[in-house]
Amino acid sequence: MNFTKNARSYRGRVLTTRPEQSVFKTHLEEDGVVVVGADGTILFVGPYSNNVPHPVVDFHPHVITPGFADVHVHYPQTRVMGRATGPLLDWLSNTVFPEESKFVDSAYADKVANEFYAHLIASGTTCAGIYATSSKSATQTAIQHALNVGIAAQVGLVLMDRGAPDALVVSREQALSDLAQLLNFTAGNERVKLAVTPRFALSCTPELLREAGHFAAQNKLLVQTHLSENVEECRATLAAFPGCADYLSVYESAGLVHDQALFAHAIHLSDSEVERMARAGAKVAHCPDSNLFLGSGTMLLRALLSAGIKVGLGSDVAAGRTFDMRRIAASAYDVALLQKAPVSLEELFALLTFGGAQVLGFGDTRGALTAGRMGDFLVIDVPEYTRQKSDILGQLLFASDTCKVIRTYLSGKKPNLP
Ligand code: GUN
Ligand code: ZN
Repeated sequence: MNFTKNARSYRGRVLTTRPEQSVFKTHLEEDGVVVVGADGTILFVGPYSNNVPHPVVDFHPHVITPGFADVHVHYPQTRVMGRATGPLLDWLSNTVFPEESKFVDSAYADKVANEFYAHLIASGTTCAGIYATSSKSATQTAIQHALNVGIAAQVGLVLMDRGAPDALVVSREQALSDLAQLLNFTAGNERVKLAVTPRFALSCTPELLREAGHFAAQNKLLVQTHLSENVEECRATLAAFPGCADYLSVYESAGLVHDQALFAHAIHLSDSEVERMARAGAKVAHCPDSNLFLGSGTMLLRALLSAGIKVGLGSDVAAGRTFDMRRIAASAYDVALLQKAPVSLEELFALLTFGGAQVLGFGDTRGALTAGRMGDFLVIDVPEYTRQKSDILGQLLFASDTCKVIRTYLSGKKPNLP
């Protein structure tokens, strides 16, 4: 083996998908190594040998996995987790909007951003789809912290020009100007990107939705929003957009449904909506814990996957009650089981890692441990006596309270937390 100087080797039981070969198959290298170059790129993944570059950090028998992706999470809701004031529209008015209104105070935004990223890292999340608030400065704070910490992220200024308290409503003109400035702030960064983030149809005028769609297309940005989460929300949406036959068509008519669009929840969809999303290449953020906590319903994961829709997992904190993406994966497993449409552990592991990175637009560079990708990986304490791949997967996915994340590496480095 011929490696550049300053490469480092990490030895352990390496568990990963190899997306170039097969998305839903997991590979285990029992005595494996991940070699990472000085620039954070993975140079080699395979069996350990004496030829690997030194220093070697020996984590055996711990398991080395790709970092987890939380494809849908609200940073300004960090401090209001567990407030049982649902269903959705009541919870937004009673809990979320008052809390998000505080983020115009940049000292508060900064403090909560520190807490938020510490929670992500402690849970093994290395890649995230983040909603900020409608405040430009609070969004810039979230972007700046992501840049500092080393995480890969899509971060959105939340667009709301109606349907929220005055403290949160921002006019279309102002929001478009803020978006342009935030785009400048992230310009050229491959790791932290601006996502165009209309909160949901009810918080946006048709004009704002259309201009958001145009801005995203012009600048090749990810679109993220909520879709068909709650029956009452769906009813109110059709009343607010009287020309639209269904919820998806509200976004379609604004040019927001395409292969760079990520829709959270996607619970109450007709067959036609599923088919149109699949045809457009739209992606879905599956948020099972949030769906349960707000009593929103249960998303048909198997049906969406069978339709060919790409899916990632979202905590949806603070409607979700945990930052731990393995608990979210466990909820996804349970819900699918009750629907008599189970998902396998290998599928779940893939959704948690590569699938999530892919729906966030990082599928070519992150989400798996293969040469050429960035070295975003975790070291997890799975007991040595757990030997079979299927048992390791089970412990890793479902026993997060005992199989703890020991280390998190972002582009080959330790996170830069304050
Ligand atoms: N719909 C609109 N805003 C939100 C939010 O903050 N959380 C969830 N779960 N759904 C939403
Ligand atoms: Zn959400």
